[in-house]
Amino acid sequence: MFPNVPFGFVTQRGGNMSACRKKLCMIMMLNAFVCLLVCVSWSLRRHKGGRHSVRIPSKRFWHQQEKSKSFWNKEQQRLDFIFNPIVNSLLSSDSLVELPDWLNDSGPPDPCQPDEKVPMQIMDYNSLPKGFQDFLLHMRCRTYPMLINQPHVCAERPFLLLAVKSMIPHFERRQAIRETWGRAGVVANRMVVTLFLLGNTSPVDHFPDLLGMLDHEAELHKDLLQWDYRDTFYNLTLKEVLFLDWFSKHCPHAQFILKGDDDVFVNTVGIVGLLEGLSEKKAKDFFIGDVISDAWPNRNHRLKYFVPESVFEGRYPSYAGGGGYLYSGELALRLHNASRQVVLYPIDDVYTGMCLKKLGLAPEKHAGFRTFDIDAKYRDNPCVYRNLMLVHSRTPQEMLTIWPWIIHPELDCQ
Ligand SMILES: *[C@@H]1O[C@H](CO)[C@@H](O)[C@H](O)[C@H]1NC(C)=O
Ligand SMILES: *[C@@H]1O[C@H](CO)[C@@H](O)[C@H](O)[C@H]1NC(C)=O
Ligand SMILES: *[C@@H]1O[C@H](CO)[C@@H](O)[C@H](O)[C@H]1NC(C)=O
Repeated sequence: MFPNVPFGFVTQRGGNMSACRKKLCMIMMLNAFVCLLVCVSWSLRRHKGGRHSVRIPSKRFWHQQEKSKSFWNKEQQRLDFIFNPIVNSLLSSDSLVELPDWLNDSGPPDPCQPDEKVPMQIMDYNSLPKGFQDFLLHMRCRTYPMLINQPHVCAERPFLLLAVKSMIPHFERRQAIRETWGRAGVVANRMVVTLFLLGNTSPVDHFPDLLGMLDHEAELHKDLLQWDYRDTFYNLTLKEVLFLDWFSKHCPHAQFILKGDDDVFVNTVGIVGLLEGLSEKKAKDFFIGDVISDAWPNRNHRLKYFVPESVFEGRYPSYAGGGGYLYSGELALRLHNASRQVVLYPIDDVYTGMCLKKLGLAPEKHAGFRTFDIDAKYRDNPCVYRNLMLVHSRTPQEMLTIWPWIIHPELDCQ
């Protein structure tokens, strides 16, 4: 009757129970029944008393949770806590829940105002690079207005969306991409759409005003997306999050996305071929690139990727180098969702790895993605590029040199 009776013994199948054992069994079942009755009536009584009589254990588990000493990790603990479904339902239903200050610290009322409390929470804040400080002050802001949009660019469902991280002054790189691997339209019988992702300049950085030229370019090619935030290295994560946001609104049916830098060369023909060979099952969680595993944060403050211990502790999840990675549109929608639950990190590709991990996924390494370039002796070999998917870095002139090698059918490669 009870297949998993917690009585401590299992009756022998088909065996003859002794009278004594039968009695013991009966007594135990009776006991269990009485216990059940008591429990039910007890819980009924508690419910009748209404919400305020529910007893809250004096020590909730979050009062025992140790606050991380590193700022990012602490912020992530806070988000994990808020998004924990059990806590979530308690918080919205139970007015008696009280949080320790560090878990309840949601910063200034407007998350896009600099958070003045941040410098006090990071021991070595004053010795951090200026850009890093800026990142920390604005870390909670995720919404910036769009200045240039192409809301209908995906009207015809793209098979492949090429989303290229660019910067305002890189006119030449964008043009080289348009003339080569980012040539939009039908490639190898599949619909390919190219978009360039741009931020803005801030007066504090003293850049010349190129917006007139940019408007002209947007009008001419209709392939620019621009948001009004300061386009810097530490804000690349913002570019990622804003792109995912845009994608879920304006292009959710695109089948695949290649997101990369404007100084990579992409074998678009090879990529389309690779994607066509995917099974539907494989395509669902598809995410490939030049994967870096078991990396630790860089603690050398002279390097671009420096992150101090006061900000992040622990190992990085596996992540695909930001030069370029390829993933499915369906996964992009889930990443968009997951990204709300991951605190912005100053390195964009690590951040994407963190979002994947949140979904229980990891990127897969593909040998055709060469974000650290190929051996110098192969760089001028036309046939080598046929077997590559993506290589970093190439100048506009190199792109125009290599592209014909990819598409020329008469090139004889053994
Ligand atoms: C969080 O803090 C605010 C004031 O800072 C307080 O009004 C609110 O009740 C706190 N919420 C919880 C759930 O502890
Ligand atoms: C990121 O962009 C915001 C909005 O323009 C800006 O306030 C902040 O300083 C930028 N962060 C960095 C690290 O440049
Ligand atoms: C987004 O997340 C919510 C809750 O975390 C979930 O209910 C929803 O199904 C998710 N949507 C997608 C597209 O994954």
